[in-house]
Amino acid sequence: MATAALTIPRPDDWHLHLRDGAPMRAVVGHTAAVFGRAIVMPNLRPPVETVAQAEAYRARILEALPAGSRFEPLMTLYLTPRTTAEEVARAAASPHVHGIKLYPAGATTNSDAGVADLGGIEAVLAAMEEHDLPLLVHGESIEPGIDVFDREAVFVERQLAPLCERFPRLRVVLEHITTADAVEFVLGAPPTVAATITPQHLLLDRNALFDGGIRPHHWCLPVLKRRRHREALLRAVASGSPKLFLGTDSAPHEVGTKHAACGCAGIFSAPLALPLYAEAFEEAGALHALEGFASRHGPAFYRLPVATETVTLRREPWSVSASYPFGEGHVVPLRAGGTVAWRVESAP
Ligand code: NCD
Ligand code: ZN
Repeated sequence: MATAALTIPRPDDWHLHLRDGAPMRAVVGHTAAVFGRAIVMPNLRPPVETVAQAEAYRARILEALPAGSRFEPLMTLYLTPRTTAEEVARAAASPHVHGIKLYPAGATTNSDAGVADLGGIEAVLAAMEEHDLPLLVHGESIEPGIDVFDREAVFVERQLAPLCERFPRLRVVLEHITTADAVEFVLGAPPTVAATITPQHLLLDRNALFDGGIRPHHWCLPVLKRRRHREALLRAVASGSPKLFLGTDSAPHEVGTKHAACGCAGIFSAPLALPLYAEAFEEAGALHALEGFASRHGPAFYRLPVATETVTLRREPWSVSASYPFGEGHVVPLRAGGTVAWRVESAP
């Protein structure tokens, strides 16, 4: 008989875009209603480059939380060519900064402040290794002429593998992995190397981008891949590997910037993310592995306690809203207007 309910320690989202200002105030509650903590991405404009900026951003997030919420934003810094070893030391000393994010320049939304030449950040990586501060990586190659569907595999082979060899004690999270190549690399790497996986990459393949017409709400980076890669991701999470944990990459964009001749990359999943993961794990025949992925492997890697509160998922279909308010406008969630098979039971 199919499992009807599942109670797990309150999960965390190890890769989340909250934005800032009114848009942030509109979305943060969706995550805080389900997740205990989230690693908050620093790709604002201007980027969150310093500990002082991260502390100020954290204060704005805390202020925006619904009354009584105990949600904890875990802050990150944006690695730029200007980042110094001194800032790394300050970040490591801060109780609120949990990693530094590497965006190859131009690889994704608001990544133009990122790093074009990995050779130029050796001193910063050495300081991070020294201070034991995790490096979070957007793993896509920006070398010219590389097919967009190959960018992750090329990055893993040409940039990430050598980086991990050169800094063997550096803890690295390869964010939002999408390919069999990345799975193979991460699972074969030492325990210092881990990865997050999004709900969309577990549930959709690249056909979803062109289902009867172009589908801007399935457009994210890294782009959806072909079916065999999705199957490799499902097998990987079903294996229960402690190197893999939940990171939604929920990335809200105002609907007008998605419905455009050059639409923004990013999928908004916060209101339905945990139920979507339950669907994916159920498809993989691995509901028993959801607890590790959602609630235990991330805290172990980031050296934080597992939540003592719990959440319950119930197998009970519900309809997803067509859109949610987002600042002055709206944001369209993944599965808008559709049905999700699981719901998160509201806390007693
Ligand atoms: C993210 C965003 O919109 O900030 N977009 C996305 O497609 N995932 C950036 C990112 O994580 O790549
Ligand atoms: Zn992201």
